[in-house]
Amino acid sequence: MPLEIRRAREADLKAVFAIESAVQKSPWAESAFADIQKDEDAYFFLVSDADSQPVAFLIAISGDDFLEIHNFAVAPSSQRQGIGSRLFQYVLHEASKAGIPSVRLEVRENNAPALAIYMANGLEIVGMRKGYYNDNGENALLMTGKIPSVW
Ligand SMILES: CC(C)(COP(=O)(O)OP(=O)(O)OC[C@H]1O[C@@H](n2cnc3c(N)ncnc32)[C@H](O)[C@@H]1OP(=O)(O)O)[C@@H](O)C(=O)NCCC(=O)NCCS
Repeated sequence: MPLEIRRAREADLKAVFAIESAVQKSPWAESAFADIQKDEDAYFFLVSDADSQPVAFLIAISGDDFLEIHNFAVAPSSQRQGIGSRLFQYVLHEASKAGIPSVRLEVRENNAPALAIYMANGLEIVGMRKGYYNDNGENALLMTGKIPSVW
């Protein structure tokens, strides 16, 4: 199945919200996706299938010298096929082209698949927020990594 990585469009928002609702313990409001899609400076990329339907998305915001990952999800039926890894690397590459030198994010301590992707891309755990997530009291790990400038 040919997959494409592209910027999210307004027409994608329903499908993106469906993925969010299917995978996140505390989903964002649908309006949050609409606001970010309108923000041309935000990194809101997705992977779409042969019918141009989203199967994964990643949202990040750039600061002066870092890219912060805010949301990242793959639809349940598309997980464990390397799609999340591919999308994460694509967004780092986009940030690299914009001269952004580092990436940072928060992740649930027990989120093994997400941690596998972040570790494989050179991110390191630099801190922890105890009991950060309200829904189950899980700790948040803070991770940062360098984004190679020539890539
Ligand atoms: C995290 C997530 C985006 C990963 O997407 P994915 O497309 O399934 O990931 P990939 O197929 O690219 O797998 C990446 C790595 O994680 C590992 N992995 C995938 N699912 C796993 C699981 N359930 N348990 C342990 N490791 C897993 C894979 O083995 C792979 O490692 P490898 O390259 O060393 O083999 C996806 O699981 C998801 O949407 N989870 C719910 C939302 C979420 O947690 N988002 C991250 C918030 S910080």
